Amino acid sequence: MIEDINSAGLPPGLLRLMDNENPLGPSPLALEAIEKYMQAINRYEWFEADGNGGLQHLHPVNMLIQALAKSDGIPLCDPFAPEAPHPYFISSGVDQILKLLAVAYLTPGDRELIEAEPGYGEISEKARQINDGGIPTRLVRVPLTKDHDHDLDAILQAITPKTALVTITNPNNPTGTLLPYEALEQFIDAVPEHVVVIIDEAYHHFVRDPNYRSAMSLATSRDNVVVVRTFAKVYGIRGVLLGYAITSQAIKKKMLVYNHARASPLAIMAGIAALDDHEHVRRSKQVVIDAKERMYTAFNEMGLAYIPSHTNFVMVHVERDSQAVIQSLLDQRVAVSPRGSQVLKGWIRVSVGTLPETEVFLTSLKTVLAKI
Ligand SMILES: Cc1ncc(COP(=O)(O)O)c(C=O)c1O
Repeated sequence: MIEDINSAGLPPGLLRLMDNENPLGPSPLALEAIEKYMQAINRYEWFEADGNGGLQHLHPVNMLIQALAKSDGIPLCDPFAPEAPHPYFISSGVDQILKLLAVAYLTPGDRELIEAEPGYGEISEKARQINDGGIPTRLVRVPLTKDHDHDLDAILQAITPKTALVTITNPNNPTGTLLPYEALEQFIDAVPEHVVVIIDEAYHHFVRDPNYRSAMSLATSRDNVVVVRTFAKVYGIRGVLLGYAITSQAIKKKMLVYNHARASPLAIMAGIAALDDHEHVRRSKQVVIDAKERMYTAFNEMGLAYIPSHTNFVMVHVERDSQAVIQSLLDQRVAVSPRGSQVLKGWIRVSVGTLPETEVFLTSLKTVLAKI
């Protein structure tokens, strides 16, 4: 019953399965870090007792880079010196990084951006704004394959001398499909060097394919590849806005010219704590596994097709007008996403919830489908 729903971070009686958030809430260690460091937000510089009677000057960005390098397995100069080259670019969320890359690479004008359709679409939106703002920019959307995955051959075909950016979300949003590393590597080898390839790995934590390999090694070994990752998903700290890119020194230099989106030190300290919160990450991944299994079973019973997902959301074919289904669910205070349904007619995208949340969604969906 929707009345019994009391979701983390929401008022009671409201079920939101539309933004691919963490239904368990934020990492408790991240919350502790926020509580600790918010006492110091009046200060530009942060200091801490070092435990030996001395003082330590905190450099949150450097601390996060060190923590990320450890967790990503990327070697840094040791001891880490801030001026030494490293592949990290810390920012206030992946959307900000995508917009920054769009501004940096498209605003010279007469440039093109390529993104799959349906894809995440945020960078395409920025390209549209740049064009509307008077800087001619062509947006090329390349349809997915019939298996709902990126059509890398068609994307390659779409590249012209004016193409500045290609963005690939892997696993893809909204379809949850996954490109193998080898296919991405081959694609990047075939892309002309003037094209910057962005690989958005927002959902990498949820991939269970044993052959999965992140594209990070492509970003650290090529000049024209950017991998972006967010703290908004498995770590559950969307509201503080934190994300990062891994890329070449050349791209970092270009991004710095336009950068206006520094991450807050509070967000960074929360991020460092979340990275270390292995129990929260484990539980957060398990919730996704359990909810997807429950949804797959129910969809099979209901005779509804779905796209097996490598993420924390699932696209399901509701065999009716998507918008009508989404609106009827909303009337029952169950919010799911229309993302992708303009192109994939009759499909809706549902984020995972806890098992009780998933049950309420399934009950509401059955009620709605019986009516429409
Ligand atoms: C593919 C993808 N990239 C980026 C984001 C947003 O990241 P952030 O919250 O760090 O801006 C999302 C959020 O849904 C996403 O699906």
